[in-house]
Amino acid sequence: MSKIALVTGANKGLGFETARQLAEEGVTVLMASRNVEKGTEAVKKLKEEGLDVQFVQLEVTKEDEIDSLVKHIDSTYGKLDVLVNNAGIMHSGEPTGVNTAEIVKADVLKETFDVNFFSLVSLTQKMLPLLKKSESARIINVSSILGSNTVQSDETSPWSSIKPFAYNASKSALNSFTVHLAAALKDTNIKVNSAHPGWVKTDLGGKNAPLEAPEGAKTSVSLSSADFTGKFVHNGEEIAW
Ligand SMILES: NC(=O)c1ccc[n+]([C@@H]2O[C@H](COP(=O)([O-])OP(=O)(O)OC[C@H]3O[C@@H](n4cnc5c(N)ncnc54)[C@H](OP(=O)(O)O)[C@@H]3O)[C@@H](O)[C@H]2O)c1
Repeated sequence: MSKIALVTGANKGLGFETARQLAEEGVTVLMASRNVEKGTEAVKKLKEEGLDVQFVQLEVTKEDEIDSLVKHIDSTYGKLDVLVNNAGIMHSGEPTGVNTAEIVKADVLKETFDVNFFSLVSLTQKMLPLLKKSESARIINVSSILGSNTVQSDETSPWSSIKPFAYNASKSALNSFTVHLAAALKDTNIKVNSAHPGWVKTDLGGKNAPLEAPEGAKTSVSLSSADFTGKFVHNGEEIAW
C-alpha cells in the first residue's frame, strides 16, 4: 500500500500545495477541509492533474469530526504515515498592532489557541495509534519563525518587529509541543518536527509576501521524509526555537 498522508486546511494556500507535492511523490493524500464545497473543489483540481487525493471533512476545533476521521482512516487504510498539521489562523487585525501583548483581548487569544494549538494537540494525540501502525511516520507541525522566542527577543532580527501576540504565542506553544512530543516518541517509528514555510503569498501571508505557495510548501514536504526529530526547520536549515 502507498503512503497515506493527512493535510489539514488543504483547500487552499500552503495546505493545498503541500497536498499536491506529496501526491506528486506518489503519496495518497487525504485533503482535509472544514468546508465541503471548497474541499471537494480543491480535490477535483488535483484529481484532474492525475493525483491520488481524497476529500475528508475536518473542522479542527470539533472533537466529533476528529473522532469520525480517525475511524474513517482506520477502517479505510488501517494506518497513517504523514500528518501535516497545517490549518491555522492569524486573527483579523493582526499584525497591524491591535493584538499586541499589551492590549490583546482574551477572546482573540482563545480563538487563536483553539485552532493553532489545542485542536492540533488533540488531533495529533488521536492520530498517534494510526501513526504507530506506519513503518515510519512523520508529524509536521506548521509553525512560523514569528513563534521563535530567540528571534522575537533579538532586536536586530527583521522578524522581531512583527509582534501579533496571539499568533506568535500560539506558534511558540506549538513549537513546545513539537519538542515535547519528539522526546516522548524518540524510541518509536515517529519523527516530529516544526516547519517554517517562509513568508508566503496566501490569504494569511498577504499580497506582499515574497514567496509563492509551491515554494512555501517545500519545507513541510521535505520533512515528510526527515531522518531527524525535534527540530524547527526552514528549507533544510535549522531555526532557533
Ligand atoms: N503564509 C505565510 O506567510 C505563513 C508563514 C508562516 C507560517 N504559516 C502557516 O502556514 C499554515 C497555512 O497557512 P496559509 O498561509 O496557507 O493560510 P491560508 O491560505 O489562510 O489557509 C489556512 C487554511 O487553514 C484552514 N483553517 C483555518 N481554521 C480552520 C479550522 N478551524 N478548521 C479547519 N481548517 C481551518 C483554512 O480553511 P478555510 O479556507 O475554510 O478558512 C485554510 O484551508 C498556517 O498554520 C500558518 O500559520 C504561513
